[in-house]
Amino acid sequence: MPLRFRLNGRDKQILESTDLAFLYKLVRVMKNPKTKFNEVDFVTKGEDYLFNYVNNNVGGVDEGRRNFLKGILIGVAVTTVAGIVPGLRVLIPPVQSVSGFPKTLILDSSGNPIKASTLPVNSPIIMVFPYPLQNEINFLLNLGDENGNPVEVPPTTVVVPQTGDKYQFPGGVGPNKSIVAYSAICQHLGCTPPYIHFYPPKYVNISQVTAPEPNKLTVQAVQAAKSAKVPAIIHCDCHGSTYDPYHGAAVLTGPTVRPLPTIVLEWDSSTDYLYAIGAVGVPTYPMSSNGVPSNDPSADLDESQFGASVGDKTEISETNPFSS
Ligand code: FES
Repeated sequence: MPLRFRLNGRDKQILESTDLAFLYKLVRVMKNPKTKFNEVDFVTKGEDYLFNYVNNNVGGVDEGRRNFLKGILIGVAVTTVAGIVPGLRVLIPPVQSVSGFPKTLILDSSGNPIKASTLPVNSPIIMVFPYPLQNEINFLLNLGDENGNPVEVPPTTVVVPQTGDKYQFPGGVGPNKSIVAYSAICQHLGCTPPYIHFYPPKYVNISQVTAPEPNKLTVQAVQAAKSAKVPAIIHCDCHGSTYDPYHGAAVLTGPTVRPLPTIVLEWDSSTDYLYAIGAVGVPTYPMSSNGVPSNDPSADLDESQFGASVGDKTEISETNPFSS
């Protein structure tokens, strides 16, 4: 079976079985005292030495193999080689794989650090940022009451209806503890904005249920918000799933049986900047193979699904779902 690996921190390559056999052979001759790889020569002569060495000891260095060798110089496969040839390590940039959640500064849509105290309360504008990977988008919300005053969002325990599992939502951050971030990927079947978005208080009433698109609130969603005593909701217009942004994006109405995962935020009170620092809750997507989420947020780090890490900065993009 072909093996995927990272190249240049972004692209994906497939190692075919012939490439693996080639690598295996290469490692063997490098280990052999009779054909020992000369690190000093490699460091001083660079890739020419490597190509000659491979040609003389393994053979078959055609154009394709040269490119492959160049690739492994900066790819993950070479770490196997680098393990026995320490000299390689100094020439090869470290492979950028996501081994954990980065601490990522959130920028506004102009590329400047977003200031928590200037974030509009109950904004109908969809504000999303990618995190922890480039194709994983998340809502940034400053929650308020019916009158538009920010409200403190306390920590709470969130239940995953599908499994009965529970996890701890850490609560809001910022000067009023009212700022939260959740995955913007609906946990029913994966709809993304503008189909799923925040409905501010003025939209969460029965009179809005018959409003023209894109406002597609259902009676059930409005009633669920009322029962939960929350003034606003996140609603997915695809099939009607409703989430409670004041309580960890818990499920208010199905068909979803999974809350929206939480992106853990940190607020720096000295700069007013916001950082994404982690995630809790069920994985954004995919679910594990049996259709039951693993409850392990590290599934968010699967780069084969969601692209490269965002790194230390991520930028907001904005859409108005009520503009048409
Ligand atoms: S994908 Fe959101 S409700 Fe179905």
